[in-house]
Amino acid sequence: MQLEKTIAGVKAQVQIWKKEGLSVGLVPTMGYLHEGHRSLIDRAVRENDRVVVSVFINPIQFGPTEDLESYPRDLEADCRLCEDAGAALVFSPEADEMYAPDFSTYVDMHRVSEELCGKSRPIHFRGVCTVVSKLFNIVTPDRAYFGEKDAQQLAVIRRMVRDLNMNLQIVGCPIVREADGLAKSSRNTYLSAEERKAALVLSRAVQTGKSMILDGEKDGDKILAAMKEIIQQEPLAKIDYVEMVKWDTIEVHHKVDGPVLTAMAVYIGKTRLIDNFIIEE
Ligand code: PAF
Repeated sequence: MQLEKTIAGVKAQVQIWKKEGLSVGLVPTMGYLHEGHRSLIDRAVRENDRVVVSVFINPIQFGPTEDLESYPRDLEADCRLCEDAGAALVFSPEADEMYAPDFSTYVDMHRVSEELCGKSRPIHFRGVCTVVSKLFNIVTPDRAYFGEKDAQQLAVIRRMVRDLNMNLQIVGCPIVREADGLAKSSRNTYLSAEERKAALVLSRAVQTGKSMILDGEKDGDKILAAMKEIIQQEPLAKIDYVEMVKWDTIEVHHKVDGPVLTAMAVYIGKTRLIDNFIIEE
């Protein structure tokens, strides 16, 4: 497996593959890879001739008070996981390779990016759309893989690809959970033992919401109230949001009468965790 730090190096390799008629899959990540990322890479390897994994902590998607500096990093372990999974290339540029000092062009999105995480992280999706567009231009993948844990991100990327006529398929992959239900996340490493236990309120709330819907409940407000009640019983938990939205448009919605995303962001101590479930009916 090849490790590339430069854009020119990636472009040259991809050009060779394309000349050979090989399909290319891209898994964009910020590194510190876990089984959630592994499931994306596994699927990409199954569906493409060559797979590129990008490992880049994108500074422009972090707000000034967020965890850019402390975000966990381990490129060696990431490369081992990628090689083991069958990826052909890891692209891990430095920030100045991606952003010239006078970088001035951003991909900005309205509506889909404004609810849920967009409210408390106002510049986040502008940073995500910009870096993902750059990665798509560099790698020119046939398919790109994103986890449903960041469900709003997946909806935002799908909308960007549609709106800007980008020529690739976006593949969403299911959330991977720890045995006790906690959604896998690189940020779980921030949790103390006590916080790790407390963090289970997120998956418990997800389970409750899902069961209510499977039992026939259609009233979004009742579902959200039951989920909030579970989270509020945990003293270490502070709700950022628990919302129901239409799955494709991310507009706030109060009824289960079509595809809906029920999503939450909850602080456990200082760590902000997200979780969700999607009803595709
Ligand atoms: O989901 C992530 O890890 C990041 O937001 C992404 C898509 C790699 C863009 O930096």
